[in-house]
Amino acid sequence: MFLGIDVGTGGTRALLVDREGRVVASAASEHAAVHSEQIGWAEQQPEDWWRAAREAIAGAIAAAELDGAKIQSVGLTGQMHGCVMLDAAGEVLRPALIWCDQRTQPECDWLNDKIGRERLIELTCNPALPNFTLTKLLWVRTHQPEIFARIAHVLCPKDYVRYRLTGEFAIDMQEASGTLLLDVAHRRWSEEVAEAAGIPLAWLPRLFEGPEICARVSDAGAAATGLAAGTPVAAGAGDQGAGAVGMGIVSPGAVSATIGTSGVVFAATDKPTLDRLGRLHTFCHAVPGMWHVMGVTNGAGLSLRWLRDTFAAGTSYDELTAGAARIPAASDGMLWAPYLFGERTPHLDPLARAAFVGVTASHTRAHFVRAVMEGVAFSLRDTLSLFAELGIPAARIRLGGGGARGPLWRQIQADVYGQPVELLAAEEGGAFGAALLAAVGVAAWQSVEDACAETVHVAETIQPKNAAAMEAAYARFRRMYPALREIGRA
Ligand code: XUL
Repeated sequence: MFLGIDVGTGGTRALLVDREGRVVASAASEHAAVHSEQIGWAEQQPEDWWRAAREAIAGAIAAAELDGAKIQSVGLTGQMHGCVMLDAAGEVLRPALIWCDQRTQPECDWLNDKIGRERLIELTCNPALPNFTLTKLLWVRTHQPEIFARIAHVLCPKDYVRYRLTGEFAIDMQEASGTLLLDVAHRRWSEEVAEAAGIPLAWLPRLFEGPEICARVSDAGAAATGLAAGTPVAAGAGDQGAGAVGMGIVSPGAVSATIGTSGVVFAATDKPTLDRLGRLHTFCHAVPGMWHVMGVTNGAGLSLRWLRDTFAAGTSYDELTAGAARIPAASDGMLWAPYLFGERTPHLDPLARAAFVGVTASHTRAHFVRAVMEGVAFSLRDTLSLFAELGIPAARIRLGGGGARGPLWRQIQADVYGQPVELLAAEEGGAFGAALLAAVGVAAWQSVEDACAETVHVAETIQPKNAAAMEAAYARFRRMYPALREIGRA
């Protein structure tokens, strides 16, 4: 039995998986709401993640009616890019700035001046974005120097939970890629970036490959969770890396399109494929010796939730999408630009703004719903267009997240991507991938690829039906952003 722990944004989930890849039990515990003192700020208390992790782990063990000692290994995953700061005694110095915190554009500008935008992309494979950990650390240096002066350790969210569980400071390559301090091409911390930014390398955790065993559950960790002291803990991966493992996206040509709160298009690559313009994230994969690229739409599932909460409160998603399914493809000319939270890929523009375009008096509420679902898919298609531009193959596209659950969004995606899309028999998210990494760490399978081949199965392939109409609508979609760019800056 292997345990995957996913320290998400909304909550922490623990999942027990057996050697056949079956989910035996799971349990979850919610986090306190994200604290936002000012627009664009987002903070959480690391202690709250640990409380939720303890509850979820104990809950999963109880649900399986299992002796904790039967769990052979543990793998961690979670929300990426957060910045947890600890003092020399391992105490949390302030709430963590998390992935969606957008306050650090000035720090991004500073890094670009100091290192040079192109040089930074050469060194880390990525541009400075407010999402990334380093920029958050620099904000604390500027605005809270008294806290910065006491920092002895910097961790990402799931790695803080690992620290509480094991007492070790460790991180995996995939997560480390999202800090902007990793030399992604060579899979080591970038001395040049750390030195230029003024961050001591000694603050950073030790680096491991995703399935590597990097720590063991401590006596205190065991007492808090019901796991046995000494249980091996694999490095794991950030939620995107572990989620990709859980969906079998582990070899070149395999691509996933996941619509959760945000939307991610993810491709595994056998070398670091870098976009000189920094429009894609180029990270180490959770699979040793592999890399991945991904594009992120900030407001994906979030667009539909916003529409419902704002204009159709109390209506279920099923009811909303049933109406939208009766509207023709391309929504009778209505378009949605999903930039409710600015945009990452391909525009890298925190000031981008959302819009409905092409609305007429004949449009109904159902058109708005369909237009939103199509607009999100067009935005994910933008990432696929970049893949094509960079020669990254996308032979098979697997759907994940909420966007894979209903028939309408699945069909819209097949139509907008203009190729067949695959649906998995079961999709358990990042915690499943983390459990597989843990299993590989104790040689239950010889490789991550073997684990995926045995446990991840395609249930259905959906063919495009309206590709021509969607191709024409996509061309119109692409013309919206240049106008919205100006509006966001007005
Ligand atoms: C990835 C990203 C999100 C967060 C939160 O780059 O920002 O997936 O990890 O889930």
